[in-house]
Amino acid sequence: MKIYKAKDYEHLSQIAANILAAQVTLKPDSVLGLSTGQTPIGTYKKLVEKYKSGDLCFNKVVGINLDEYYGLGADNPQSYAYFMNNNLFNHVNINTENVHIPNGLSQDIFAECTRYDEVIAKNPIDIQLLGIGSNGHIGFNEPDAELKLNTHYITLAKATIDTNKRYFKNEYEVPKMAYTMGIKQIMHAKKILLLASGESKAEILRKAFKGSLTTNVPASLLQMHRNLIIVGDEAALKGVF
Ligand code: F6R
Repeated sequence: MKIYKAKDYEHLSQIAANILAAQVTLKPDSVLGLSTGQTPIGTYKKLVEKYKSGDLCFNKVVGINLDEYYGLGADNPQSYAYFMNNNLFNHVNINTENVHIPNGLSQDIFAECTRYDEVIAKNPIDIQLLGIGSNGHIGFNEPDAELKLNTHYITLAKATIDTNKRYFKNEYEVPKMAYTMGIKQIMHAKKILLLASGESKAEILRKAFKGSLTTNVPASLLQMHRNLIIVGDEAALKGVF
């Protein structure tokens, strides 16, 4: 496990973007596992800057997103597909055929999960970008007695709905279900880059990385990954590392 302690969010974003840029520079056809949420926004901004200044090229990059709300399509501003277009894909030269996100509008759950499993099987992930939920979820793998290995359809935990309702008019508008990559697929990424910012993440980071492995804190399983990089700002890492 490698830990980078950033002084603040800006610095964290710079470090994370540098790591992803190094990956793409060394292997232009890298498969990037991507995530959404508040934390990676600054990283995507820095990647766009690197692209615009000619330092980075995405034309061979493959992007595979972790998750998507069930029932939301790419034209819905709350969807993760919309987020990715808005924060990254619309601003760099990634080939749209190389962009993969679970289709939130697919009502055939089995078909959609199978389709996404095939996408991941065909494109082994070189580096998986992750955030950590306040309850320790990674992707939308919520705390439970058992965790699913592959792509699945999941009921979001109350803590996740409570946290994510800030993006919706009210909590009733937050989708209660989602598609997500499974734990095995995340763990099979060659490298994992976990970002955490702000003091609200310190407690869950402590549980995930200073305690035993438990499916009640899905991020704790990352302790088993051979190539885990954690980039956190001082507030998030305080008392943890
Ligand atoms: C997003 C995702 C989630 C977030 C996590 C942290 O695609 O899979 O696991 O990474 O909820 O979200 P933020 O960054 O908003 O704190």
